[in-house]
Amino acid sequence: MINYRIEKALNEQVNAELYSSYLYLSMSSYFESISFKGFANWMRAQAQEELSHAMKFYDYIMERGGKVSLEKIDAPQKEWASPLKVFEDTYKHEQKVTSLINALVDLAISEKDHATNNMLQWFVAEQVEEEANASEILDQLKMIGDEKRSLFMIDRELGQRVFKQSKD
Ligand code: FEO
Repeated sequence: MINYRIEKALNEQVNAELYSSYLYLSMSSYFESISFKGFANWMRAQAQEELSHAMKFYDYIMERGGKVSLEKIDAPQKEWASPLKVFEDTYKHEQKVTSLINALVDLAISEKDHATNNMLQWFVAEQVEEEANASEILDQLKMIGDEKRSLFMIDRELGQRVFKQSKD
């Protein structure tokens, strides 16, 4: 059984992951609207990945005998000035999520909840990857500036991404 403070914090993270999914789906929709199908595909896969993160927390709360409590999800931003701006926001958002995960680890340690701390370590590692992925694309976009041909090449590359459900 998890204690009330941990249950509440994990429920807040379910909401944060669902918001992440919503935000990336909104970015996908923005990319569709400016005819960048590859960027849209990447963001759509990212939205699916965030939904799987939310479900990981959801399942863990249930497994520990807690109660999942779904709250309102904030509306995400709908328009951006450029692909560069989208990835600036993506990178910033992932840094914010990392700080949320770190705060959860701090709480699990202070509450002496070793099982929750252990579960959270998967997310600690995942956030390293999430930040690296966003920052790599952001760096590419910064490098090419307004160069259309390179932008279309990145778009084609990002069109290859396929969402894979993680097994653990
Ligand atoms: Fe669920 Fe992108 O972190």
